[in-house]
Amino acid sequence: MDKKIFNAVFQEKKNIKFHMPGHKGRNFSGAGWENFDTTELQGTDNLREPKGVIHEVLHDIAQIYHADRSLISVNGATAGIMAGIMGTISPGEKLIVPRNSHTSVHNALYYGRISPVFIEPVYDKLGYPVSIDPLDIEKAFRENENVKGIMITNPTYYGTCCDIHHIKELCRRYRAALIIDEAHGAHLEFNSSYPVSGLEAGGDVVIQSTHKILSSLNQGALVHIKNDLTHGSRITAHLNRLQTSSPSYPIMISVESSVKWMYEHGKMLLDDLSRYYDRVEEELKFTGINMMADRLKDMDTVQDFDKSKLWLDVGCLQKAGIDAGRELLETYHIQVEIYDGRTVLAMMGAGTKSEDVEALITALKALDLKAKRQGNMPMSKNKTTVKFPGIPGKIMEPWEADSLAKSKCKLEASLGKVSGGYIIPYPPGVPVLIPGELICRDVIEHIKSLAPGSVIGLDEMDRIEIIGGEAI
Ligand SMILES: Cc1ncc(COP(=O)(O)O)c(C=O)c1O
Repeated sequence: MDKKIFNAVFQEKKNIKFHMPGHKGRNFSGAGWENFDTTELQGTDNLREPKGVIHEVLHDIAQIYHADRSLISVNGATAGIMAGIMGTISPGEKLIVPRNSHTSVHNALYYGRISPVFIEPVYDKLGYPVSIDPLDIEKAFRENENVKGIMITNPTYYGTCCDIHHIKELCRRYRAALIIDEAHGAHLEFNSSYPVSGLEAGGDVVIQSTHKILSSLNQGALVHIKNDLTHGSRITAHLNRLQTSSPSYPIMISVESSVKWMYEHGKMLLDDLSRYYDRVEEELKFTGINMMADRLKDMDTVQDFDKSKLWLDVGCLQKAGIDAGRELLETYHIQVEIYDGRTVLAMMGAGTKSEDVEALITALKALDLKAKRQGNMPMSKNKTTVKFPGIPGKIMEPWEADSLAKSKCKLEASLGKVSGGYIIPYPPGVPVLIPGELICRDVIEHIKSLAPGSVIGLDEMDRIEIIGGEAI
């Protein structure tokens, strides 16, 4: 695979620029990205309706991923997921959706006026959403008419994978499209010892971020389309509506390069990451820290685990995940993806080096030793520290809530009220409340348990938006 967009932009660099953008290719930022930040010119093609180099790159990418058609999103998997759903499911039709889906899925339901059939994810013994049960999907198909598709997230943010083959079989039986949020799985294609990829398992629309494990810039993503249940041109039209009309060439070049790099080196990289994973597991054997994946082996809904994710149970440490995450940063300058009351998630990727992993191992061993010296009592093996609430009752559709009067209400006092906004912990960006949902005790307790400042929709005075009521 040649770097075709890169070459086209490089070729254009020599010209005197009397076109947008205003920096004219001269370095204003000190970072130098202006060098490749150009616009649609003769030779650089147009992302909205590609006929030149972008068209060729999309063709190469589709071949690599075995898709019928691939699209680049410069607005992340977020826009890709919205386009994928809205291009496949029409207003008023139903889509089966695990309630813990990323906020982009909820955005698509909102803008597409699509009726969700929410199902609960499967939780592990500690309370983390780690999979979905095909039996719940089958029940949803049986109990609902007009279901045109199912949306799944695979692998999850934590790297766990569901029984995607079984889910595909159900989709075939009920003639429904399988849409897969594979934001965390753009690498799976490149090494057969990793979990099966969404396209290989029969996904009709598969959306991948290329900036999470692959090396593209943030916002780089791909939408892959397969099979006749989906409407490729509708998805393309939605993606064009959702994206900027001035797509970033640095992002497009980085998507192109990230796929090319994986095509050439991905197998080796993923073998390395797998070895790093095994090494962490081996080195932590004599500490109290455990790989979360080992704890999930007896769950038959969890079919596989992505070894690029180091998801660690640090329940043996002083104040566990929260303190461990902070100490890793403050003492060892290691920034992990997320930590909570019980676990730490360290994500590896195209840029991970063995020395990074060695530094993590050294730090974790030191934290373990410190906890032992301080006589810390490990948390009991199954102590739940995260309690995700169930699916809140729906009082009205989110768009019906739009035009109603709203006010702010202290979280503690919101029991029994109807949510007026989205409450979204970041990361991972999964809403715990959407507009029109009834606020119950479990939801309030869950929001209270989250790290301060990490929750979108909860203001600095601990207030959330509700429908009606008087502003306080
Ligand atoms: C499961 C999942 N889906 C979708 C997204 C959105 O991806 P992007 O950041 O590429 O828009 C994320 C982002 O973190 C995610 O974790």
